[in-house]
Formats: sequence, C-alpha cells, structure tokens
Amino acid sequence: MKTYFTEQTGFFGKSKPSRLLREFGSPLYLYNEAILRERCREMAGLISCSRFKPNYSTKANSSPELLKIIREEGFDADAMSPGEIHILLASGFKPEEILFVANNISTGEMEYALNKGVLISCDSISQLCRYGRLNPGGAAVVRFNTGIGAGHHEKVITGGENTKFGVNIELSGEVRAVLKEYRLRLVGINQHIGSLFMEAAPYVASVKSLLSVAEKFEELEFIDMGGGIGIPYHKQDGQKRMDLEDLGGRLSELLMNWAAVRHKDTKVKMEPGRYITAECGVLLGTVHAVKQNSSRTYIGTDIGFNVLIRPAMYDSYHDIEIYENDEIIKSDQKNVVTVTGNICETGDILAKDRELPPVMEGNIIAIMDAGAYGYSMSSNYNCRLRPAEVLIGMDGTPRLIRRRETMEDLMM
Ligand code: LLP
Repeated sequence: MKTYFTEQTGFFGKSKPSRLLREFGSPLYLYNEAILRERCREMAGLISCSRFKPNYSTKANSSPELLKIIREEGFDADAMSPGEIHILLASGFKPEEILFVANNISTGEMEYALNKGVLISCDSISQLCRYGRLNPGGAAVVRFNTGIGAGHHEKVITGGENTKFGVNIELSGEVRAVLKEYRLRLVGINQHIGSLFMEAAPYVASVKSLLSVAEKFEELEFIDMGGGIGIPYHKQDGQKRMDLEDLGGRLSELLMNWAAVRHKDTKVKMEPGRYITAECGVLLGTVHAVKQNSSRTYIGTDIGFNVLIRPAMYDSYHDIEIYENDEIIKSDQKNVVTVTGNICETGDILAKDRELPPVMEGNIIAIMDAGAYGYSMSSNYNCRLRPAEVLIGMDGTPRLIRRRETMEDLMM
C-alpha cells in the first residue's frame, strides 16, 4: 500500500488542486506553513544545548515569506551571495544573524557584506588574505575541509578531495599565519560536507575533526557544522526519515565532552537548507499530452526543467501524485511511463520509467518534496515564465506570496 503525502498531511488545506491552478496558474509552487514550522522545530531541537542555534541555508528556498516564518521559528541564516544577504535583511534578519558563506567572491562583494555588518566565511587562504587586506584587525571566519564528504550525487559533495570548497585542515598553520599578518580574530569556523545524507556517521566524524581544528584557535566564538541533513524522497514506498534523535544525541555528546574539556561556551551552529523547506513544498502542474514514441509512453506536462531542475541535473527522484477531479488516482493498474516537461531538450525529464496509474490529458500532476532547490534553481530557459508561489497558511487558506512572471518580465 502506497502512502500519499498530500492526503496524509492535509496538504491543500481548505483548497483543492484544480481551484489553486485556476486561480494562480499552472505550474504552481505551493508551500504548507504547518509543515514548514514542524521541520523548523525538529531541527531547532536537534541538539540539547542552549548554545545551539541553527542557520537556515537560504539557497534552498529564498522566498521572503518563508524566510520570515523561519526567522520567527528562531533561526539565523546563511547567505551565499550579496543577493541572498539583501533578501535576508529585507525579510527581517539582522546583520548579526547572517553568515555569508562565501566562495570565490570579489573585493566588491566582500565590501558589500562588510558595509552591511555581515560576517564573511572565507573558504581559501587566497580569500582570507584578500579579506585581511580589506579589513585588517577585523573578525574573520574560515571554512575548513576536513577531508570527509557525503551527499546524494557527486555534484553536491563538498568535503573531501574532489571539491573546490574549504581550506584543508592540514593548512591551519597557514591560516594562523595569515590571521597574524592582518591581526584578524578568528571568531568562527565552519564546514559543509555535502548535501543529502541519511546516515549520521560521516557528519559526526567530520564534526569531530572540526573540533580538533577548533582546539587551535583561542578566540573562537562559534563552530558551525554545516548542513546536508537528508529527507526521504521515496515516501510512497515507505522510506524512513533520518534518525534525528541518533544524530542529535551523538552530536550533543561530542560537543558536551569538548566543551567540558575546553571550559568554553563556544556557540554551536548548523546550516540546514533542504531539511527545513523541501517537504513543505509541492509543485503542481498539468498534463498536456500523452504519447507513445517507440516503446516508451511519454506524459507531457508543463513542468519543464526551468521550473524544477533536480531530476534533469542530478537524476533526482521525487514522488508523484496524479489527480482526476481533485482525487488522487490510486488505481491498482500501473503503467511504466516517462514524465517530461515542455522544454526543447531530450533531457527534460521529471521521472524516467516510473510506474504510475493511468494518466490522461487534463489530469493534474503533483511533484512532492519540491520546496528545496525547486523555485530557487528555476530559470527562464526557453523564455518560459517562472510560476507563482502560494503559501497555505496555518488555517488552511492559500495566499499568493510571489506572483507568476509575465511576458514583460522577460524583457527586463
Ligand atoms: N551550507 C553550505 C555551505 C552549502 O553549500 C549548502 C548546500 C548548505 C549549507 C545546505 O545544504 P542542505 O542542508 O540543503 O543539504 N541543488 C542540490 C543541493 C545543493 C546544495 C548546495 N549546498 C540539490 O537540489 O540536491
């Protein structure tokens, strides 16, 4: 027996898929506030330590209305660019609540963050020197690479040997020399081993290494362990959630022992993105064609990879629900089909050789767990318009939080 996420969670609240598409257009990104808040609370309670405060990683979903809710839930935030800093500040985050986790930025971009009062994490000696020249005597943060990486695809593993990120921990002596040269105070260190792991072991091992680096720097005010906590994308087949209790327990123990030995009350941070926003988002679209090409049946929808690029870019899997007259089609009869979008590329595939109930033109299709790296990675490729975003509030009422783009936007 499959489980259907929108049914289980009452995802659509007081509305129905067909009404939502009529009102806001197809395709459509929908977010559920209750699920978002639930995920925030789970993550905020991960570590039993008053010095723990997670940063939300804005890149997963930078919709201002969601950012406001995440802040309300007590999160600080990470930014990856001046644009994300701008959106965070405009959404109510204070400069001191933001960490700019920078990668290969220009002097101008450093100046932007410094002028806003936002801390910058440098991820190479080269960038740390540039920072030192710009802000001698200032507070610095360095991102380390502990040599450990994990993630759902090689493109998103950010620790270990095959990645551009971080300063190798073996180079902490050089970091110390640069700090001295520019009289910088190292107030924080961070890491990020990669995105979407479901097991605690690599993360815990890497935190252990990071703590051994922390030993070497007296003035540290915080240690930031990075993001990457996975979510179950195969819920229909009963995939289990990551065991957060196990992860939280192991981290708490590690950190408590470390603090006890060091007699320090260093703050502890994390950088979760996907865990916070993936599951509160469902992407709705419409089936416009069903066709047979050679041996394959293609389901043609309006969800091109300009709207959701994860399947095309990483072969990522998302559960799919199909609706007929607003009811989920749960027929026992299953066909193997390939679900595609409307972009002019053969790789525009949402789901390859997927078992689905019979699908017809006019059916509504829903892509689950689309709240992270969905809208934030969308584009205007093929001059397609980005969809609207709608938030289903705590009382189940839908509210437009970002309008659908117009043809005029394409000329800007
Ligand atoms: N911190 C840093 C420095 C990061 O680079 C990332 C993600 C995060 C935190 C948040 O990671 P999360 O908790 O969301 O896994 N587009 C890919 C994921 C790319 C992640 C990039 N970095 C995807 O759709 O799977």
